[in-house]
Amino acid sequence: MSDILLIHGPNLNLLGTREPGVYGACTLEEINHTAAEQCASAGAGLETLQSNSEAELVDRVQLAGTDGTRFIVINPAAFTHTSVALRDAFAAVGLPFIEVHLSNVHTREPFRHKSFFSDLAQAVICGLGPRGYTAALDAALAQLGFGDKAN
Ligand code: DQA
Repeated sequence: MSDILLIHGPNLNLLGTREPGVYGACTLEEINHTAAEQCASAGAGLETLQSNSEAELVDRVQLAGTDGTRFIVINPAAFTHTSVALRDAFAAVGLPFIEVHLSNVHTREPFRHKSFFSDLAQAVICGLGPRGYTAALDAALAQLGFGDKAN
């Protein structure tokens, strides 16, 4: 069981080489490493998951409802704009979550302006690149009562 679950949706395993002009040069491994250090420094447990499979993500969110997970940070990637099933999993478990996007989806194609998650999310962060995850985790850690031991 981890306090915080950080979920990355489809194609985010390709970060670093995938459309770097849109998504930047940072790899998923680097993002997860920074997140792990941030949570460890605050004394919180973090689990990360990347999947290209909608079913796997739905199953993991369902499990989070009973395994002691207290907060979810998710970049649903393309499922943001398509997945009623993943949205319904969040509605079912009722855990607080923050939706993160590396790019500013609102300046991009119209089909990226619609999210199936934003109205359920506690907050939505987009356009900050990898710093969006740091900001989301900072908010989650504060809400869960974890402090940064470095401060
Ligand atoms: C994304 C934006 C989505 O529209 C896209 O499908 C992604 C990544 C982002 O982080 O900017 O895969 O979620």
